[in-house]
Amino acid sequence: MSILNVEHLTHGFGDRAIFNDVSFRLLKGEHIGLVGANGEGKSTFMSIVTGKMLPDEGKVEWSKNVHAGYLDQHAVLEKGMTIRQALKSAFDPLLQKEQRMNEICDMLGTADEEEMNALMEELGTIQDELTLHDFYTIDAKVEEVARALGYLILDWTEM
Ligand SMILES: Nc1ncnc2c1ncn2[C@@H]1O[C@H](COP(=O)(O)OP(=O)(O)O)[C@@H](O)[C@H]1O
Ligand SMILES: [Mg+2]
Repeated sequence: MSILNVEHLTHGFGDRAIFNDVSFRLLKGEHIGLVGANGEGKSTFMSIVTGKMLPDEGKVEWSKNVHAGYLDQHAVLEKGMTIRQALKSAFDPLLQKEQRMNEICDMLGTADEEEMNALMEELGTIQDELTLHDFYTIDAKVEEVARALGYLILDWTEM
């Protein structure tokens, strides 16, 4: 299954061409490394595929239900933020869903029957989405990536 489809991508800044007619597909389970010297266009490419920048020409298509998490090289780190939190922020849309789930659980205590039915339905939908998107393995994924990058995370209990 194709997760990302890029077709005929062309982009430049002024008269400096960055890409010329780039096409590729990313399949489920594949890993890609983007390699290039400073200023070759790696960050520009990431901005285009994550929808932050429009290309001069070409098409970027993500498969339905795919959310791209992106950690920028120029990360905006707030004071007191741990490495774990910074890495985990790539999963923000899922973490927000979890937060909504917790809100719903709190609301259940005081809901009448009609409200309860609506809340239970929303809860079920969110739970399915979280399971589908491997929400319950985020901590393990963050740990794996951190170790691979050489960061030893010691703040486990803080999260
Ligand atoms: N917004 C912009 N306007 C003009 N030129 C840009 C802009 N963003 C990047 N560039 C230029 O495009 C080239 C590629 O930049 P970038 O994608 O940041 O490269 P990399 O991430 O591979 O180091 C560089 O020459 C850079 O100066
Ligand atoms: Mg860069």
